[in-house]
Amino acid sequence: MISSRELAYEVLVNAIKHRSYINLQLKGIQHPDMAFVNALVYGVMQHSLQLQHLFHPFATKNIDVEIDVICMMSGYQKHFMRQIPDYAIKAEALKLCDKHVPYAKKFVNAMLERIFEATLTQANSHEDIKGLSLETSFQPWILKMWQSHYGAEFAYDFAMFSNTPSDLFGFVHYDLKENLKDYGEPIGEWAFKADKSIIQHPDFLSKKVFIADIHAQKVGFNTPIKPNDRILDACGAPGGKSLMMAMKVKDQADIICADIAPHRLELVNQTLKLAQIKSVTTQVLDATLTHEFYPPNSFDGILVDAPCSGLGVLRRKPEIKMFITPQDIDNLVKTQAEILNSCALCVKLQGWLVYSTCTLNKKENEKQIESFLKLHEDFICESIMPFDSFSTGGDGFFMATLRKIK
Ligand SMILES: C[S@@+](CC[C@H](N)C(=O)[O-])C[C@H]1O[C@@H](n2cnc3c(N)ncnc32)[C@H](O)[C@@H]1O
Repeated sequence: MISSRELAYEVLVNAIKHRSYINLQLKGIQHPDMAFVNALVYGVMQHSLQLQHLFHPFATKNIDVEIDVICMMSGYQKHFMRQIPDYAIKAEALKLCDKHVPYAKKFVNAMLERIFEATLTQANSHEDIKGLSLETSFQPWILKMWQSHYGAEFAYDFAMFSNTPSDLFGFVHYDLKENLKDYGEPIGEWAFKADKSIIQHPDFLSKKVFIADIHAQKVGFNTPIKPNDRILDACGAPGGKSLMMAMKVKDQADIICADIAPHRLELVNQTLKLAQIKSVTTQVLDATLTHEFYPPNSFDGILVDAPCSGLGVLRRKPEIKMFITPQDIDNLVKTQAEILNSCALCVKLQGWLVYSTCTLNKKENEKQIESFLKLHEDFICESIMPFDSFSTGGDGFFMATLRKIK
């Protein structure tokens, strides 16, 4: 059987080379030491800049991804896992070298000496952007953007929060609301805080109990859906918020869960079938063209849970902070505006348009809504939901509820 370190190595190399999500790489993999594999993979991704700084300054040429990963994994074990002795870290690193990059054994050996001697970087102050970038392993532009949008203290605290393991939350089918405590610690009407055993629970396997972040749930359950409404969930896959809306009205509505990605809608169809939900159907749709697909005033409400930069969910997807660029954010802002403008035409008079993201930056959130309202005098903003990740342990989310008034 492949060793836990080799599995972590393969996942990390693939994720970095192909810019793919590590949760997708890890999906379905079974290994007796999965907890260690997860800790190593997520830890290396979360602390990549800090780890690279332990040895990059001593390298005289570019480092191949494979070698970089072996050294980062060694650095993570040394400085973040602590109980592993240096000789064991070294032996495992050299084993990986032998198998995957034998030409680099001498180099890795030399880098390991540096890694073992080095100490982790800590910022001197909030103005020390280079230090902050290394301490938190965030690209400097993200930290500067957060500092200017939310203040230096929040930027630092949220960056540190993003490097911690995420909590697990779930919600239940409306038939099971009275039994919340059977699944974990109840939080409110639908939600519970879970532990990992929930994924073995028969009610989870038969889709009567679902996993979703607590703030994602706040979005889904706080949409103003009413029984018998016709709703479009314009960017709906993998269907979490469509399900929450369906639960809120006891499966009495006509909810179209649309998405541009057919393969993601397949996941929704599987869930709907298992859970025997009747009020949700799926539709492939480019939501920037909603007004060409549906007539004006087609829906009582539209949820735009927009494609976004995902800077609120870095505990689950730490690779995002490694790859994302300011240009990506500008492109996303444009797509989000196109989706909102198109969907606005299909909302009925007195109907609602909810805009949500799982990111933190004002361009994709508050400013997006400001620009929308400037263009659409027929809409007002009824509310902007406050989310406090530090008190709930939930992801960074944004939600604005708009109403068509003329
Ligand atoms: C944040 S996710 C939605 C999560 C979903 N609402 C849930 O709660 O499970 C954003 C979705 O937008 C989809 N998407 C991206 N561009 C789109 C577009 N132009 N039209 C429709 N969907 C789009 C992506 O495929 C992705 O599934």
